[in-house]
Amino acid sequence: MERGIKTMTLLEAIDARHSVRAYKSTPIPEKVRSQLDAFTADCNKEGDLNISIRYDDPAGFDSRLAHYGSFRNVENYIVLAGKKDESFDFRCGYYGEKIVLLAQQLGLNTCWAALTFNKKKVKEVVAPGDTLCMVIALGYGETQGISRKSKKTEDVVATKGNMPDWFRSGVEAALKAPTAMNQQKFVFGMKNGQPAVRVKGMGPCTRVDLGIVACHFEIGSGREIEAIMEK
Ligand SMILES: Cc1cc2nc3c(=O)[nH]c(=O)nc-3n(C[C@H](O)[C@H](O)[C@H](O)COP(=O)(O)O)c2cc1C
Repeated sequence: MERGIKTMTLLEAIDARHSVRAYKSTPIPEKVRSQLDAFTADCNKEGDLNISIRYDDPAGFDSRLAHYGSFRNVENYIVLAGKKDESFDFRCGYYGEKIVLLAQQLGLNTCWAALTFNKKKVKEVVAPGDTLCMVIALGYGETQGISRKSKKTEDVVATKGNMPDWFRSGVEAALKAPTAMNQQKFVFGMKNGQPAVRVKGMGPCTRVDLGIVACHFEIGSGREIEAIMEK
């Protein structure tokens, strides 16, 4: 396969994506880097963020914690950063996942990491005044990852009864999204005739998860979704 050509649609990328923690040493070609960087710049503009991609930099995952978290040979990673406000974590999740899905389309693999990376080293590359949210490992995986358990549509939908097809497709795409420790602590419903999603329950990184699942829902349903963020 020639690297740098999108071989799948976004829906196919959602199906194909699984967390991958062990990578080959194959460098990411220039052509692929420029596509990822251009898309990241668009995301930063739209989302008012300062996301950057570090290539050929093993320091970000060079720590005991990263090895303990079973990360191997991570040489590239996405740094999610920007000015912190109420919606910062949500926006990092939403735009970070957009980049994850483009990476998947370009033949790469990824894994979100809130804890198991070298925070000290990564903080050194974050611009002064910006906050580091977390990182995403990036590269050509040793494998394509494996499917995992998931909640069912009925478990994450507040409104009972018949769901329109587009709503069901959105929720199905959201159930394939990565969440911290696979917690899937979210619930979808309708608010004033429009789809909405909010966190349900307690857990780590639920706001970032919310952004990630909102991204998947929009791709699956073809509709924009409102995220309800309780304080
Ligand atoms: C916000 C967030 C933080 C995560 N943090 C870590 C982490 O620190 N270490 C790790 O090994 N995996 C981490 N993951 C990966 C999840 O464990 C993984 O996405 C989840 O188990 C679902 O599996 P899947 O991505 O293959 O669908 C994180 C995922 C998300 C979305």
